[in-house]
Amino acid sequence: MTDPAARIAELRRRIDDANHRYYILDDNSIPDAEYDRLMRELEALEAAHPECADVSSPTQRVGNQPSSKFEEVAHSVPMLSLGNAFADEEIVDFVARIEKETGDGAPMFSVEPKFDGLAISLRYEHGVFVRGATRGDGSTGEDVTANLRTVKCIPLRLRDDAGPVPDVLDVRGEVFMPKAAFDRYNAWALANGEKTLANPRNGAAGSLRQLDPRMTAKRPLSFYAYALGEVSAMPAGVDTHSQALAWLKALGLPICPEARTARGVDGVLAFYRDLGARRDALPYDIDGSVYKLDRYDQQRAMGFVSRAPRWAIAHKYPAQEEMTFVEAIDVQVGRTGALTPVARLKPVQVAGVVVTNATLHNADQVARLDVRVGDAVIVRRAGDVIPEVVRVIDERRPRDAAGEPLYPPYALPTVCPVCGSAVEREEGEVVARCTGGLFCAAQRKQALIHFASRRAMDIEGLGERFVDALVEFGYVKTVADLYRLTLDDFLDMKRRADEREGTTPETVKAGKVASKWAENLISAIDASRDTALERVLFALGIRDVGESTAKTLARYFGALDPLMAADEDTLKQVPDVGPIVAARIAHFFAEPHNREVIAALRANGVRWTEGAPQRSSEGPLAGKTVVLTGGLASMSRDEAGAKLEALGAKVSGSVSKKTGIVIAGEAAGSKLVKAQELGIEIWDEEKLLVFLAEHDNA
Ligand code: IVH
Repeated sequence: MTDPAARIAELRRRIDDANHRYYILDDNSIPDAEYDRLMRELEALEAAHPECADVSSPTQRVGNQPSSKFEEVAHSVPMLSLGNAFADEEIVDFVARIEKETGDGAPMFSVEPKFDGLAISLRYEHGVFVRGATRGDGSTGEDVTANLRTVKCIPLRLRDDAGPVPDVLDVRGEVFMPKAAFDRYNAWALANGEKTLANPRNGAAGSLRQLDPRMTAKRPLSFYAYALGEVSAMPAGVDTHSQALAWLKALGLPICPEARTARGVDGVLAFYRDLGARRDALPYDIDGSVYKLDRYDQQRAMGFVSRAPRWAIAHKYPAQEEMTFVEAIDVQVGRTGALTPVARLKPVQVAGVVVTNATLHNADQVARLDVRVGDAVIVRRAGDVIPEVVRVIDERRPRDAAGEPLYPPYALPTVCPVCGSAVEREEGEVVARCTGGLFCAAQRKQALIHFASRRAMDIEGLGERFVDALVEFGYVKTVADLYRLTLDDFLDMKRRADEREGTTPETVKAGKVASKWAENLISAIDASRDTALERVLFALGIRDVGESTAKTLARYFGALDPLMAADEDTLKQVPDVGPIVAARIAHFFAEPHNREVIAALRANGVRWTEGAPQRSSEGPLAGKTVVLTGGLASMSRDEAGAKLEALGAKVSGSVSKKTGIVIAGEAAGSKLVKAQELGIEIWDEEKLLVFLAEHDNA
């Protein structure tokens, strides 16, 4: 048998290597099971040989004793803050100042995201992680070493394979909670009756300040290095910030892949805009871009004011969270009858847009937040996502003299606010639904809007406003009625809608505009008559039949009649159609009303392509589920999906344990992170193109 000390050293080296590959190089080198085996062997050997104990062993990341308080740590080099800028002009001034004082007409900057986490300092002595501290007031922070040890991407030992390690290295950077980890933690907390986190930043702060490191280990944090503190000796050839980042990376520290260099004011502003456009797709929260003069000699020339360098600045993005007040709580009824509570808000600007409504999702969420009329709330709007209420500011709830809240807890109505039908909530479902079906005007409208939408029948111009009028004045009851509308119907309807809204059309001119608009709509409806089976199936709005299931069904059955005739057992044979969806489809087509609508669509001239069923489990990707995420340079995601499907793949929108391959394009976000965590095979665009070319499908 080998010498246990040698085996221990070997195991530590292999585990450190696997961590480094996984967290720093983005390369999942060994399977999880193998990793776990190595870990267990190391734990057993260390337990049997206490003389081999070492604080930088990978086994030392979790399981330390809780402490009663954090010790103070004096930073040997103070941790600075950054000046802030919001407007481009402030950046123009900042760069002009640098150009003037350095005499460099186009200075080089190192540009990075401004992470929305917590600044920390990590101290390595002779390559071993000895202490981690929070920023505190910049001079003195708190010792959070035990908690930082649980952060898997922070190396416990620096790598010396690319050059010597300095005796002392104090690295600064940001600890943060990735968005995916935040979502997962909150899902877990909800299921287990624990308190949820308000946002990833609070999540990171709370985790780091846990007195019990075992609690920190449960809330996965991440880290990027972005600055240096005390360094005993800088290596030769590191004369700029960007070179320093490359050096830190070689030592095994995580560096943000978004960091790059940019020249002059145009360069930094281009970075700001590019990163801002991708902000929501990044796997972590950011609140700005940071520009640092790259050359150290130029940094020295610029110096400092108080606690901030004059050679660096943070250029902030508009806040995604703001405070406002709830004026009322309404419910909206969706296409499937789902009741969505909506908070009507005192208008507030969030990330550049005035927000007046925010979704409260469902009754569970309302109960969890305990939102009431009159409450001060935090609303969040990120990118294209619908604004949502994230929490109530409890201290500001309006109360009477006795201290009791002025308003009672909100409860969803028990009858539909639109049609008066009963509201039901199926067991195990979070959503409450109106039982009125197409009797309910709200559901009818939503069904029409869905039917006309771009990815369904694609009837351009048939927006919400016209659908409202069409339903309210009784021109259409079912989607098939759309195909019987005449020019006169539209003009009539427009006149009635204008009258109702109190707009009196200026006869001749308005009449012309109206007829032009109605002609366009008629021809858009006409154009939608010739379509594909998968579009019709999606457009019908069968519950749980989204675009991808519609496509699968169209391919599997080839035509509508055999699908309509299929029973639940037959439907369950279709790839990815489970018992619930099979039952929904069978019920839908069993319903006489739905069969009438389909017959009426046909009678009104709607035609779709039909063909032979395609059930081959052939093709190089047969049986594999593929997820596309991020942008591709050479084609759209839809095109790529179609090519992959032609090779037998099932293309899905979400990553799970069943996913076979994730294709990650530019700025891939949380799906990529999840895939990495699940150890799923990941392809970049190049690999995809090579594969398609090899299979004659480029
Ligand atoms: S550099 C000498 N770089 O911003 C400059 N800071 O206001 C030292 N921050 O407390 C900081 N991302 O928490 C720097 N890429 C980045 C950053 C960053 C976030 C935070 C950090 C610091 C604050 C300064």
